[in-house]
Amino acid sequence: MFYSEIAGIGSCVPEKIVTNKELENIVNTSDQWIVDRTGIKERRISTGEKTYQIALKAAKRAIRQSGIQSSKIDLIILATITPDFFTPSTACLIQAELGLQDIPSFDISAGCTGFIYGLEIADKFIKSGQSKCILIIGAEVLSKALNWNDRNTCVLFGDGAGAAILRRSKEEGIISTYTGSQGDSNGFLTMPAVTLKNPFFKNEISEDNHSYIFMNGKEIFKFATHIMKRSIQVILKDNKLTIGDIDYIIPHQANYRIINNVAKKLKVSPDKFYKNMEHFGNTSAASIPLALDEMVQKKIIRKGNRIIMVGFGGGLTWGSILLNWTI
Ligand code: ACO
Repeated sequence: MFYSEIAGIGSCVPEKIVTNKELENIVNTSDQWIVDRTGIKERRISTGEKTYQIALKAAKRAIRQSGIQSSKIDLIILATITPDFFTPSTACLIQAELGLQDIPSFDISAGCTGFIYGLEIADKFIKSGQSKCILIIGAEVLSKALNWNDRNTCVLFGDGAGAAILRRSKEEGIISTYTGSQGDSNGFLTMPAVTLKNPFFKNEISEDNHSYIFMNGKEIFKFATHIMKRSIQVILKDNKLTIGDIDYIIPHQANYRIINNVAKKLKVSPDKFYKNMEHFGNTSAASIPLALDEMVQKKIIRKGNRIIMVGFGGGLTWGSILLNWTI
């Protein structure tokens, strides 16, 4: 039996800060509406940075913090819904940039739960004995998938990347993982892929081929509140713990009202949940590692802390991870 631990964490966001005030010039919205409904004040928006480029910077920071040689990495898992290419995968681009040879690298698509899914897969690879040192990344340039005329979505999201090194360890880092999904047959949160266009298919309707994020905010709000609470309760019960045994909860950073609602339902102070959507908006698969990295940089998390990461997202997907902070 092997243990796994997070040995390093890193993040990267594009330089350009876009405030709510600036969005008032683009769609019919207001700083007040966005802050009141979401807690978001600003976000980072790509002015040319590609998904793999911010992912690579985050990865290099995680590698540096872990103190390992990058040549020790034996698997790369990258979660994104906004890759630069369908093929090659973003993980393969990172492998090439890091100068790594032969190791397996792949992307996963689990919406905003992508980092949780990635960490769970990595944990199983280590615990099976197949891998010793894995790079997991969540990276998004969501601004290329936003309809900038749709005020229901364009004010909510931002661009960014977060990465972690998970390695085989003597101490127990990752204690337990839980993931789930429920096919979104109602289309509450969607982003279409390329549409069929060939000489043998006659499409009567001329379509706008751009692939935008669509979201039914009210339905996702209800789903998110219910599933975050459940994901926390399941992982606590599986490990015979109570919420009082947890030092910090790092939730997906979509909306402070969702988080405060979950805290209320769990009868726990909202301060137990770390929030940084104020500065980054919702960065999907990057949001949890981005928050974790900020907590580590600010020395909020300390060795010995017991943490739950919890996410939900398009798919619909959800999941939670219980871990000890060991570095
Ligand atoms: N500025 C001003 N008004 C707006 C804006 C905006 N940006 N967006 C919507 N409105 C309007 C609506 O048109 C509506 O007007 P109407 O009453 O005249 O029709 C009014 O504000 C209220 O809209 P609601 O949808 O009722 O607003 P709500 O309080 O539900 O907040 C929000 C909307 C913030 C999207 C909320 O539903 C939410 O947070 N949902 C969950 C979002 C989420 O978690 N997303 C992440 C999902 S997973 C992933 O991360 C990919």
